[in-house]
Order: sequence, then structure tokens, then C-alpha cells
Amino acid sequence: MRMYDLINKKKKGEALTKEEIEFMITGYTNGEIPDYQMSAMMMAICFQGMNDEETLNLTLAMRDSGDVLDLSEIEGIKVDKHSTGGVGDKTSLVLAPMVAALGIPVAKMSGRGLGHTGGTIDKLECFPGFSTSLTEEQFYQNVNQVKMAIMGQTANLAPADKKLYALRDVTATVDQLSLIASSIMSKKLAAGADAIVLDVKTGNGAFMKTEEDAVALAKEMVKIGKNAGKKMAAVVTDMDQPLGNAVGNVLEVKEAILALNGLGPKDFMEVVYALGTQMVLFAEKAKTEEEARAMLEETIKNKTALDKFAEFVEAQGGEKRFVYQPEILPRAGIVMEVINTEEGYVSKIKAEEIGLASLVLGGGRATKESKIDLTVGVLLNKKRGDKVKMGDVLATIFANDMEKAKEAYAKIVCAYEVQQEEPNPVPMIKGILK
Ligand code: URA
Repeated sequence: MRMYDLINKKKKGEALTKEEIEFMITGYTNGEIPDYQMSAMMMAICFQGMNDEETLNLTLAMRDSGDVLDLSEIEGIKVDKHSTGGVGDKTSLVLAPMVAALGIPVAKMSGRGLGHTGGTIDKLECFPGFSTSLTEEQFYQNVNQVKMAIMGQTANLAPADKKLYALRDVTATVDQLSLIASSIMSKKLAAGADAIVLDVKTGNGAFMKTEEDAVALAKEMVKIGKNAGKKMAAVVTDMDQPLGNAVGNVLEVKEAILALNGLGPKDFMEVVYALGTQMVLFAEKAKTEEEARAMLEETIKNKTALDKFAEFVEAQGGEKRFVYQPEILPRAGIVMEVINTEEGYVSKIKAEEIGLASLVLGGGRATKESKIDLTVGVLLNKKRGDKVKMGDVLATIFANDMEKAKEAYAKIVCAYEVQQEEPNPVPMIKGILK
């Protein structure tokens, strides 16, 4: 087999066989196929597309290029949740303990933040001593004992995707639906769960800016997962404004703890319940959506989700007292208020701009190697639809550097739009695909 012939075949719009895709992925991962040939193939796929069978075969070949977790040591139906990334997305910190409190095992691999979006691993590292570098054995043991564990992605998880994504990033070949879906799903399938619930975000702060594109991606990923034998659901959710009020690692952890105490922002809790409902149904703990939701609500009311979170933090090296007294978590030295100058209603808060403000403050990574300041970020005092008077505080900046705080201030002012008429409410949940 020659890569040249495969590129030519795809250029003419023909479908690649399973063997051809495996040859290409194995050869590329071990360095036998050079970047320039793979770039030509990626571009040919961008123009000609791939059918369902090719997309599945590409996903499976990338999944099998590295470690594939075998979760059979964990009892019960393992349900994973994955978000396509957003601003203020601390969903896993609340959802995982709620679901685990119902006895459903949550074995989760998470990533770090990059660019304007955050990552669960960074948020968890706000707890002094907390470690996400677990061995596979510790990971399984913690899930069996505590019902939840979160570890960082192992270096050898879908290495073919890692190499290919870096190549696509610099050859203008990221935005092809089958390539995006197979990239995300190869990592999810390698993480080994029986059922996967996807949170596909749409809007200004999301990877998919339009609802149409988000739905198309959700459909593609659900199809791949089902064809790979998994139970699949995708919830398409709003990311036009940041989720909840807090953006920045410690601030988001504090908001997650508030949510576990029953004081979570409404938009955030809507997303948590929508995803959680699907997870509970997949775990076969409830028969209807209403029943699943009521069970989840109960974990907040009776504080079992909060206690589960504390147990989880302790099991991974942190201290429980930070969960019960979040005010003792480290904090930023400078607090600056962003003042409103226009009467009316908040009609828009550009999520990407708020994410970039947090990045400027030092709370996000410009590159994979950047060091981040966990204490900085932005608290949104007003959200979309809120009535605002002149002089009201729109947002609060938490910083450790005055110049950076001023830069963030300018970005936040640009992010907020105020209009005279009350805007129509925007639904948080755009659709659920199964
Ligand atoms: N995220 C991924 O992991 N892969 C893509 O191709 C795009 C976004």
C-alpha cells in the first residue's frame, strides 16, 4: 500500500477502506508517513468528505493508536460526560458528585484549559495537594470506593489524534465535520465508558459558533459512538454568554461549591440537570426524565452531592475543609469593579471576550506550556436579560497585576451590550440528540 495512492483515491472522491485508514494512521503515528502527505490527505478529506463507515474507521484507528482504558474492574454502568469547551464551564465539578451520590460510577479523564476556554484539571488543582496524576490502578480503586475519580489525560491517549490535530491546526483543515467528530470521539472512546453524554456548546464562546453547526457535530458524534457500540446522547447548550457567573479557576470552584449547596446560578443548573438526567437514564437508575431529575435535585437538597465532592477531593490528596469553607481557598489581591454607563437591559455578554479577559489576567493558557494564575478571573454581577441602571456593577475583576486588570476591564466593557428593550429569553438547552 502507498500513501500516494490513498491521497489520489480520496482526491477523486472515493471511499477509503478500513485497511487503508489503519495503514495511514499507523504509518503516520510511527513517523513512516510524513506530514506533507498527511496534510494532502486532510485537505482532500476537507473537499471530498468521508462517509459514515470511513468516519468510524478513522475514529477507531485513532482510538487504538494508544492506550484504551479497560474499565471492567469498575462495577456498574460507567457513564462519561464530555463538553466541547466553553467559558465558565464548571459543569463537571457539580455534575460528577451529583451522579456519583446516586451510586453511579464516574470515571473521568479531563483536560487542562487552552485559549479562552477553561479545563477541569486546572480547576481541581485549586485545592492544595489535589492530584490528578493517578495510576490506572488508583483510578479504578477510587471509582469503586468513592464512585468518582478524575484523572488527567494520559500522554498516550489517542496519540494519532494529538499529532493529526497539531497538523490540521496549521494546515487550515480543522473545520471539517467528520475530522472534528472523529478527533473528539477517538479520545472519548479510549477513555472506556459504556455510555457517553456530550455537551455540545454553541455560540460566541464555543468552538461551534452557530446552532446549525453544533447540531451537525452532535449528530455526527452520536452516530460514531453508537456505531462503536456505546450508549450516546448529545445535549446542545448555549455558550453565547458565559455559563453561570464565575470565570476563572478558584472563582469557578467557589461557584461549583455554592451550586452543591443549592445556590447555583439558574442557567448553569439547567445545563447540569439536562446532562445529569441523561446520565442517570443511561445508568438505568431511573425510568423517566422526571424521575432522573428529581433524584438529582434530591442530592443537592440532602447535601449528599456536596459530601461526595468533599470525599472525592480528599481521596485525591486535597483537604475536605476547603469544600466546606471555600472562603479559605487562595484569592487574588486586586478587586476592581466594572461600572455600567448605560440604562437598559443586558442583551449580550460575549463569552469569548470574557474568556479572553480572564486569559489576559493570567487565568488561561496562551500556549500549552503557559503557567496560569488560579486565583484571577471575572465574576459577572449582571447576566443577559438583567435590568441595569447607570453606576451598577456589571462585573468584578479579580487580578494580581493592575495593568492586566485595566486591560481586562476594557475587554469586559466590550463584551457587554445594553439595549433599551427587554431581550427575549434565550433557551439554555437547544436540543437533545440520541
Ligand atoms: N477538539 C478536538 O479535540 N478535536 C478537533 O478536531 C476539534 C476540537
